[in-house]
Amino acid sequence: MKNYVNWAILAPGRIANSMATAMNGIKDGKLPGINGDKIHLYAVASRNLERAKEFADKWYFEKAYGSYEELYNDPEVDAVYIANPHAFHLDSVLGCLNGGKHVLCEKPAGCSRDQLDKMTSLAREKNLFFMEAMWTAFNPCIREIKKEIAAGTIGNIINIDSRFCNRNPYDSDDRNYDPRQAGGALLDLGIYNIYFAMMLADFSPITAESSAVRMLKGVDAWNSVNLTFENGIVTSFQDAMDVPSTTGTHDAVIYGTKGFITVENFFCTQKADVHVYKNTWGSDNEVVREIREPFAVNGYEYECAHATEFILNGRTESDVHTFKKSEDLIDMMDTLRKDWNFKYPFED
Ligand SMILES: NC(=O)c1ccc[n+]([C@@H]2O[C@H](COP(=O)([O-])OP(=O)(O)OC[C@H]3O[C@@H](n4cnc5c(N)ncnc54)[C@H](OP(=O)(O)O)[C@@H]3O)[C@@H](O)[C@H]2O)c1
Repeated sequence: MKNYVNWAILAPGRIANSMATAMNGIKDGKLPGINGDKIHLYAVASRNLERAKEFADKWYFEKAYGSYEELYNDPEVDAVYIANPHAFHLDSVLGCLNGGKHVLCEKPAGCSRDQLDKMTSLAREKNLFFMEAMWTAFNPCIREIKKEIAAGTIGNIINIDSRFCNRNPYDSDDRNYDPRQAGGALLDLGIYNIYFAMMLADFSPITAESSAVRMLKGVDAWNSVNLTFENGIVTSFQDAMDVPSTTGTHDAVIYGTKGFITVENFFCTQKADVHVYKNTWGSDNEVVREIREPFAVNGYEYECAHATEFILNGRTESDVHTFKKSEDLIDMMDTLRKDWNFKYPFED
């Protein structure tokens, strides 16, 4: 039996460079707990052969293909990391699964529950590994934050606030401003706010109330949402493409009955402070733990190592970022879009 995975990357754009950095880091032995030899940098496929060759040379992949179909048809490819804009994930995921490849697909895997269901059904039918690449789920600092919460350091969680706001330059070709590519803040950034809230509130059923949404160039440029969980936790978040983060970071605060945790860049955090109130009333507090968990490479190595190990062990679904979690995420985004009466052109 093979003791390594021949990885391929489909669509060598911005995020693919980050994953390639992580894969090279694992190969070079920078991530403790996984033997770098388990990862083979096998192939890259782009719609443009030159782009594929350039990327393959830069990141030490053996093969370069000028079409995705060549990748689907190469029997040596074991697993594919899919990194094109969301609207094209469905075609690419189905192409890979039909070609017998395991799949790690960038978030959001599907633009709707219907799209996600087509992916998970085919993965089940073909008995192949499939996971949405929600890297936050594998973040070591988040693991430590969860430990503090489970230990009761901040008491019971009552509120979670998070913000993922950027002010991007306008570019009509950029996927973020293109409704045909399922652009907009919700699917690109809001997904992290929703994931963070659901992860801490145990993915229990919720009600969603979007206090506002601002549309720009046919996509949601800003939205503000409150979620209420069955266990009483209330969360509020904002995500934006046209509003800068005032603090320069993308912070979250988890408020409990006995204290709170401040989380820097919550979706890719390496730094969180655990505060405990000094008295029963009032906001006086002290920092009881500074959580510092620097990435072994750049943060993408954890999900890649997880997928690699699961594939090698013949597992078809992650036990961390399960199908159910992807379903809960997309259901929430579908609900919000329905409230906003917002459809992508390909949904008409
Ligand atoms: N996990 C994270 O931290 C993170 C961060 C950023 C993005 N993402 C996710 O990763 C995905 C890609 O984002 P990105 O910013 O990397 O995208 P991108 O750079 O705009 O595009 C990635 C690649 O997709 C293909 N592509 C671009 N525009 C296309 C179009 N109009 N039609 C068909 N194919 C097109 C191109 O590959 P070819 O060379 O094959 O043409 C391009 O190089 C998105 O789903 C996004 O949500 C995740």
